Order: sequence, then C-alpha cells, then structure tokens
Amino acid sequence: MRRLLFDFGSETIRMTAEGSKNRKTSEPAVVAHHDGGNIIAVGVEAQRMLGRTPHGLLAERPFAGGGVRSQRLAQALLKALIGRTARSRWQRPEIVVALASGATALDRRAFWLLAREAGAARVAFAQLAACRALGLELPLFEPRGTLVVDVGASRTQIDLLSLGRTVVSATLPEAGDTLDEAIVRRLREEYNMMVGPATAQVLKHDLLGNGSADAVLHGRDLVSGLPRALRVQRAEIEAPARQLAAHIASAIQELLREASPELVSDVAEDGIYLTGGGSRLLTLRKHLPDALGLPMHCDETPDESIVRGLDRLTDRRVREQLLRRGA
Ligand SMILES: Nc1ncnc2c1ncn2[C@@H]1O[C@H](COP(=O)(O)OP(=O)(O)OP(=O)(O)O)[C@@H](O)[C@H]1O
Ligand SMILES: [Mg+2]
Repeated sequence: MRRLLFDFGSETIRMTAEGSKNRKTSEPAVVAHHDGGNIIAVGVEAQRMLGRTPHGLLAERPFAGGGVRSQRLAQALLKALIGRTARSRWQRPEIVVALASGATALDRRAFWLLAREAGAARVAFAQLAACRALGLELPLFEPRGTLVVDVGASRTQIDLLSLGRTVVSATLPEAGDTLDEAIVRRLREEYNMMVGPATAQVLKHDLLGNGSADAVLHGRDLVSGLPRALRVQRAEIEAPARQLAAHIASAIQELLREASPELVSDVAEDGIYLTGGGSRLLTLRKHLPDALGLPMHCDETPDESIVRGLDRLTDRRVREQLLRRGA
C-alpha cells in the first residue's frame, strides 16, 4: 500500500510519498469557502485570497497548534492533496501523521477521522519530535539528551529527547504569527498605517529573516483612508522578535530544570538544535545562544526536517530500532 507522510503545519502542509527520497511537496494550509457553505479554493489558490475576499467569503487555516481547527475545511484540503498524488481513484493510501508530543487523545482522533474521511485506507501516527530529530540526523537512538526547538507559525515546540523518546517537552503559543500580529499592531499604533498580516509577514522575512536594513511597504493610511507607502527600518520592528527570543529562552530554562543532570550536561555539550520556519529569524539565532550560554545549530532546510524524518522513520530498519527501545 502506498504510504503518504504528512506534517500538518498551521501555515504549511508538507508531504512526501514513502521512499520517494527527495520528492517533497508543500502546500499552504489555507481553504477559501463561503461562510458555512461551499469550498471555493484550497492551498496556493486560497492563500492568494487571504485578506482579499469579498463579504461572505472566508480564507482560513484549518490547522493550528498541532491540531485540527476545522474538520470540514481540513478534509477539503487533504482530499485535494491526496487526489493530486493518486495514481488511480481506487488505490487508497495509508496516511502517516506526525503528531506532537503534547497532542491529546482528541487531537489524535480528529486526525484519524480527517484522514479516513479524506480517503485513507489506514492511518498511522509518528512522534513528531522523533521525526524532527531523525530529519536533523541527530543521534535519536542513543542514550543522550538532544534538545530540539521548532519555531513554527502558531507555536514553538521544545523537546528534550533521549533513546528515541521525548523526555520533557514544552509548547509555547508564540511563534512566527505572533510577530506578524505585533508588526501589524505597531504600524497601526505608531504610523497610523493599516496593513494585513500577509504584508507584515513579507516585511518580517525581509528585515528580520534576510537582514535588510529597511524596506518599503504599502498599506492604507488610517486617517486619510488612502493607499500609502512607508519605509520601515529593521530596528522599528525588532522588539517583538527579541521578546519572542526571551520567552523561548525562559521556556528552555524551565524545561532544563525538570531534566536529569546527565541530560542537561549532554545539552551543555551539544547545544540546541533550532528548526521550523521561524528559525530563520536572525534575532533568535543571535539572542538564544547569548541568553542561555549554549551553542546553537540551525537547520539549513527547516521546512523539510519533519517529512525527511518521517521518511526515515517508516524505513523498516529505523522502525525496528525504535520498537526495540519500546518507543
Ligand atoms: N525567511 C524567514 N524569515 C523569518 N521568518 C520566516 C522566514 N521564512 C519563514 N518564516 C516564518 O516561519 C513561520 C512558519 O514556520 P513553519 O513553516 O515551520 O510553520 P508551520 O509548520 O506551518 O506551523 P506550526 O508548526 O506552528 O503548526 C512563519 O511565521 C513564517 O513567517
Ligand atoms: Mg511545524
């Protein structure tokens, strides 16, 4: 049976077919629909509609914080994605979902239902944290503490792993989206300038991710109501990113307090592994190691580590190693 491996991110869904090595696909996790009615568009097409829909039409994300926010919308999206990869209408795949360590029985059930109703013949789950570590090529099966921090769109997930399992973990409801919202607020309060989260995100990537000193953005002047261009300096939007770094640093500190001294000393030697789209934020890369006094390694392909790990996890040899450890 064909196996499709999924990382359902709140901003982006990443998928690969088992064994297809480098063929990973990703799709914006957005669905456009008539309020409570027909689905109009999914994925890339729906993303283009974000902030541009007429009255009565909504473009929404069906996943958030590692769970399913809307079964109906999530199902439409997943059906379309499976449909695109299907070789025949009759060949129903097995779907493997990477599930966060903090996921509840309800989250699990929601994903199970979702996959079944979208046409999966079978549904299986994999530990998201283990997939991340495998994708990062970390020594997952060793009796060694490995600290992985994933800064996504809707949340930051921190996992300390050893012997293939999460030993302690923490989830922070702050990540990339928090910065987009803070930028929207700041532009409104400081400059009377109205922009949508999508524009704020482009500004964030440019100034805080790529390190440009300034950038011009277009929005609506709150006083005149007319379109307006504004040049923004990096320093003007850096404060929320520094705050995010400080919150992540104290969450890591709290988490290490709960871990055994042996695991903490492993982390002191090996440092932190940073992944997720938010790991591209230069402010995090600079402030986290400073705040914690720990070395840091940044994932060069943070969009792919989970599906890459899922692919390795479904490899029979790796799975047997995990089973032997009872994970
Ligand atoms: N170059 C960049 N600079 C700064 N931030 C970036 C950059 N590229 C992506 N991001 C941010 O990374 C976040 C998305 O990360 P990711 O794709 O890991 O999230 P996700 O897996 O969809 O969501 P989650 O894991 O929270 O459910 C977004 O907030 C996005 O703006
Ligand atoms: Mg993610």
